[in-house]
Amino acid sequence: MYSLALTTLIAAHGVNAWGTLGHETVAYIAQDFVQSATKTWAQSILGDTSTSYLANVATWADTYRYTTAGAFSAPYHFIDAEDSPPSSCSVNYNRDCGAKGCSVSAIANYTSRLQISSLSAGEITNALKFIVHFVGDITQPLHDEALEWDTNMPEQLRGGYALSDARTWATNLTTEIKTGIYKSRASSWVSGLNINDAVDTAMTWASDANAYVCTTVLPKGQSAVESGDLYPKYYNSAVPTIEIQIAKAGYRLAKWLDAIAATQSKNKRAALVERRVQPVQGNELLVGVSQEMTPAKLRRAAIGWGCGHKH
Ligand SMILES: *[C@@H]1O[C@H](CO)[C@@H](O)[C@H](O)[C@H]1NC(C)=O
Ligand SMILES: *[C@@H]1O[C@H](CO)[C@@H](O)[C@H](O)[C@H]1NC(C)=O
Ligand SMILES: [Zn+2]
Repeated sequence: MYSLALTTLIAAHGVNAWGTLGHETVAYIAQDFVQSATKTWAQSILGDTSTSYLANVATWADTYRYTTAGAFSAPYHFIDAEDSPPSSCSVNYNRDCGAKGCSVSAIANYTSRLQISSLSAGEITNALKFIVHFVGDITQPLHDEALEWDTNMPEQLRGGYALSDARTWATNLTTEIKTGIYKSRASSWVSGLNINDAVDTAMTWASDANAYVCTTVLPKGQSAVESGDLYPKYYNSAVPTIEIQIAKAGYRLAKWLDAIAATQSKNKRAALVERRVQPVQGNELLVGVSQEMTPAKLRRAAIGWGCGHKH
């Protein structure tokens, strides 16, 4: 039905991993799964008690990256795997993250920053908005590859990109997670999830998405999708991957935010106790990193998350 030239499919690092619809759907699925304390915590950070509090900020990062103030964040939307699909798919943090950062280092950075109560309210709000977006980006197979997938696919699949379209799609995928085709798999999507080892967890997500590049996105190599019509055959073969990846992102985002919110309420209780016992110690050295990180992670943070350079 569509005759789509491959230039749209494989363009330079584009606008928007999943398109507006995809990111908003991820956010709504997360809203469906977060604990009520997490909801209260996130709503207060965002100053939004509406029923779309995460969905309303889901695409902010894609606008911010094009502003002067936000240009630094452009590399945070992806990690460019320098692998060789379709014969070999892999993501390697040191090889692929890049000196200016990537989705993996960004998820780690903003997960830490979201827990630093001494940051300004604006910085904390941005950290949450970044996480809502990047947990979506990282499940998009070609945001983990030096190529870009067609960002309009979700919108073509669902027929619109209004918030109400996202809500409808999210309700479908949430039901599939709770009682349907994803029920038996959902726990594996969040296995090993650890906000104190955010690089490792985000790398697991990036590798999981990257594997689809070899099996689904470019099974016959890049040249095969660069010539000929993508629709309907290629498009149809990609639909199940799009749906499961959106579902995964929403479910992971919920569990990730639950874990951060739990730390925050625990820290608040600990801080209250500590204040009663002794004066709060200066912690300048820890600014920018979680105080619960491992020594190895603290060292990595101290050298700017050690993204390394590309080969
Ligand atoms: C979700 O939507 C698909 C079609 O896109 C449909 O086959 C499936 O039955 C729906 N699932 C639920 C739980 O409504
Ligand atoms: C972490 O986020 C802050 C605020 O956006 C940014 O200034 C800093 O460069 C980031 N650090 C890393 C290592 O990504
Ligand atoms: Zn993005």
